[in-house]
Amino acid sequence: MATALMNHAEIETDDLHRLVDPARGIVNSRVFNDPEIYQRELTQIFMKTWTYVGHVAQIPNAGDYVTAFIGEDGVIVSRGRGGDINVLLNSCRHRGLAVCSSDRGNARLFRCPYHGWTYGRDGALLGVPKMQEAYHNELDKASHGLVRVPRVEIYRGFIFANWDYGAVSLEDYLGRDMLWYLDIPMVGALGNLVPIGPVMKFRMKANWKLASENFAGDDYHVLSTHGSAFRIGFLPDYDQLADYTANFDHGHGMGDIPKPGRAIENDRGMAQMFGPDAATYVEAFNARVREHLSERQADVHGIGEGNIFPNLSWIKFGCFHAFGLLQWLPKGPDEVEVWQTTFFDSGAPQSVKDYARSQMSQENAAAGIFGQDDGENFERISEVLRGAVCGKQDLHYAMGLGHEDEVKVEGLPGRLGPHYTEANHRNFYRYWLQLMTGREG
Ligand code: FES
Ligand SMILES: [Fe+2]
Repeated sequence: MATALMNHAEIETDDLHRLVDPARGIVNSRVFNDPEIYQRELTQIFMKTWTYVGHVAQIPNAGDYVTAFIGEDGVIVSRGRGGDINVLLNSCRHRGLAVCSSDRGNARLFRCPYHGWTYGRDGALLGVPKMQEAYHNELDKASHGLVRVPRVEIYRGFIFANWDYGAVSLEDYLGRDMLWYLDIPMVGALGNLVPIGPVMKFRMKANWKLASENFAGDDYHVLSTHGSAFRIGFLPDYDQLADYTANFDHGHGMGDIPKPGRAIENDRGMAQMFGPDAATYVEAFNARVREHLSERQADVHGIGEGNIFPNLSWIKFGCFHAFGLLQWLPKGPDEVEVWQTTFFDSGAPQSVKDYARSQMSQENAAAGIFGQDDGENFERISEVLRGAVCGKQDLHYAMGLGHEDEVKVEGLPGRLGPHYTEANHRNFYRYWLQLMTGREG
């Protein structure tokens, strides 16, 4: 194993190509535990891609703000007086302290607790205590505002930011093919997709990529990891729920895409448990998709789960499932902070909203059955990979290698794959490698 012989000098591009070889289906364990690789990810991955930082419904009024992270850099997402949205580095220009320490709120100003420099909603440095006595009035306030993240774009209410001036637009980054699927719950909603309550936050001692690659299309783990949930009847048999996977440019992937017609049929069955309101809702949702998008999108109806590269996953099965966003915020090579935001359709009947809320907390939340199943695997992998031998071994990512083009379904975009494949993982690491090395993989 050549990779085991590498020393700990700064990681070179050629080393990365040896560690990650999507063409052969190999990813070396060092990718999940090496501090140098992790540091490089913070600049090469997180400063070059679009990061979700919040939703417009969380900051409807002037002065509203939420805090978020791009990689490990904290940011404030604040609504200005004119309705503009500012994404500002949450770090005082004096000694670097975070100027805002709450998750969300409404503020006219952000005042640094250390020496009291005060910044406006747009980040401008407005106040400096003892300007005359301490700085002889010579401090140039205009050049000491909070640093702004230069690119901010919104897709259907979801706010993303990017440090890279030269990056492609958010819409091009997400890509028409993946948006074809994501638009279904966003356009089908009878009201707006609105966040239910605050963001739920918890930590796992695991590398962030283990979670991202899982949501990008690891349908293979479900039978084993979540087998008990299906055996006790928590959900119907898994093989009936999902038919296809799909991957897209820029490392994005989706698992659990149902065969057209299946999700609506499933929802009609579910609606019988809830009564006529729910049945009407399912049909109205589907009709909206048919009217505003396409017949084929209405046939797909529910989109399963996926990952927007690098670290934003979603989960959304049919009308009775909330739209759950999971951000895997990196906190070192072996720690991740999970931010889970649950959205529901404000136009859904109350019974559907209530069910969606409880379903989400029972499934993928900190105490949810799937969240715990997955979290334990991710944490234990990261623990095992601290070993001197385990931490340098090549791992097998070759499932379905050479069979990538065999699934084609009329009208479904993306590079489709079968239920069980690791094509989406290879697609994730192909883009990861491209960004990490700065050249085509
Ligand atoms: S660190 Fe913020 S005012 Fe000094
Ligand atoms: Fe899982």
